Amino acid sequence: MKIIDCDVLIIGSGLAGLTAAWHLRDAGRIAVVCKRDPMESNSNRAQGGVACAIDSDDSVEEHVRDTLGTGGGLSREARVRDILSAGQAGIRELEKIGVHFSRREGAADYDLGQEGGHSHRRVLHAGDITGHEIMRVMTERAAAQSGITIYPETMAIDLVSTAWLRRRGDNRCVGAYFLDCKTEKILAFRAPHTVLAAGGTGKVYLYTTNSDVATGDGVAMAWRAGIPIQNMEFIQFHPTCLYHPAAKSFLISEAVRGEGAELINARGEAFMKRYDPRGPLAPRDIVARAIDHEMKISGDACVYLDITCKGEEFLRRRFPNIYATCLNYGFDMARAPVPVVPAAHYCCGGVEAGVDGRTRMKGLYVIGETACTGLHGANRLASNSLLEAMVCGRRAAEAICAAPAEAVAGIKIPDWQYGNAVPSDEAVVVEHNWNEVRQCMWDYVGIVRTTKRLERAARRIDNLQREIREYYLNYFVTRDVLELRNIAAVAGLIIRCAQRRRESRGLHYTLDYPGLDESRDPQDTIIADKPGGSIATVE
Ligand code: SIN
Repeated sequence: MKIIDCDVLIIGSGLAGLTAAWHLRDAGRIAVVCKRDPMESNSNRAQGGVACAIDSDDSVEEHVRDTLGTGGGLSREARVRDILSAGQAGIRELEKIGVHFSRREGAADYDLGQEGGHSHRRVLHAGDITGHEIMRVMTERAAAQSGITIYPETMAIDLVSTAWLRRRGDNRCVGAYFLDCKTEKILAFRAPHTVLAAGGTGKVYLYTTNSDVATGDGVAMAWRAGIPIQNMEFIQFHPTCLYHPAAKSFLISEAVRGEGAELINARGEAFMKRYDPRGPLAPRDIVARAIDHEMKISGDACVYLDITCKGEEFLRRRFPNIYATCLNYGFDMARAPVPVVPAAHYCCGGVEAGVDGRTRMKGLYVIGETACTGLHGANRLASNSLLEAMVCGRRAAEAICAAPAEAVAGIKIPDWQYGNAVPSDEAVVVEHNWNEVRQCMWDYVGIVRTTKRLERAARRIDNLQREIREYYLNYFVTRDVLELRNIAAVAGLIIRCAQRRRESRGLHYTLDYPGLDESRDPQDTIIADKPGGSIATVE
């Protein structure tokens, strides 16, 4: 088996991973490993932008207040302040490497966007393809550095730790096994520092705004390695995805509501003020639930986003990609409301980690959407995630540079055990199970939950996990099988966290406990066991 030695192994090529790589570029051999093309990530798809208190009338403290207000009592204030205070430096850093944020027409100041839950316009954007613009520049710059090597089409399977190798002493991460997706051979990377920046979990749900790569690989791998996972019940559903069978949950940015769009039902009623005085700019949990309610009581398949108050010229200039894409599907936003539905968008929970990515396992850092740092709490404030990825990517790089040197090159990583595995002759099973997991999560663990629905989902996912495990052991691994194993593991974690929370808070809403549990301080949900147990029983 091939083993590649490096000084830092970074799993994932989104904003968090590439920011860490960038700040480590002179720190030795940096390997950035990703399972498809390096540009495939949720960061690349982010439309809205980067929230940052940069305007002279704004302040970090107001941004902190809005973040805590949206976070439903579970954000960790000191960490929120720490991350948000580093925003401006991060923006300057991006500009230094060549990212251009939009300016107001004919002016030198930024054209700041407005999004739900923000008390100020504070979202820096690059037109309506902010993530793509940032990732284009970062990927080009990182790829040109001699210290950084990007390995595409290489999917992480599992972390390798000294405990798993049955070595004495503190447990530490020494690398990971990977599947070379081109040759279908297994290889390993060995490094004293591993950064897990493997992105989000949206593909666990049938409808999602996420990239196809968002199969929760980082969370699943960390859980299998025994690292605590927390707050997975808080899945954010973006309220406004284009409703069209061919559009694959195309996102219509919240910034469109920030520019005055109304949400209306099929009878043309603007309904959001009935749910929250902030109307369509209420935080996303409230807007998504309101849409879900409107669709359920009317039986309609969608609601509508109406931005006809703005002219074509404004829409083409401010939202060129969204305008053109909607037009492509037959909807002219300037002339008629556009049909929209909610879809899974962001995982606010993840692997327990500090702002610098440090975890309970030595040598393992977790950043970006894979991590749960305490910034988002029970609900993420719009456009805070690119900011978090940027700040935590940098902090992880600094922590790695400051960490004592550890030699791991002498640690033997055993060859991959194929056992009695044979090539699969039933690939169709993978596709069926894949669809079943996603449908089950959409039906029973969506925007509105109940105890019964969660129990039903737990039983189904438990069975599927057993089948998938057998499949994994009996057949040679492929990328599809690895992704299926990960979405099923993450589905199980979401259900377990949701079952433990006997209240409605932030993004977790259950009809059986519709209010907050006021009997105690807000608690994180922490899963700190090893995998393998049944999830069907409520703990
Ligand atoms: C959006 O543009 O609506 C998405 C921004 C985000 O998820 O923060």
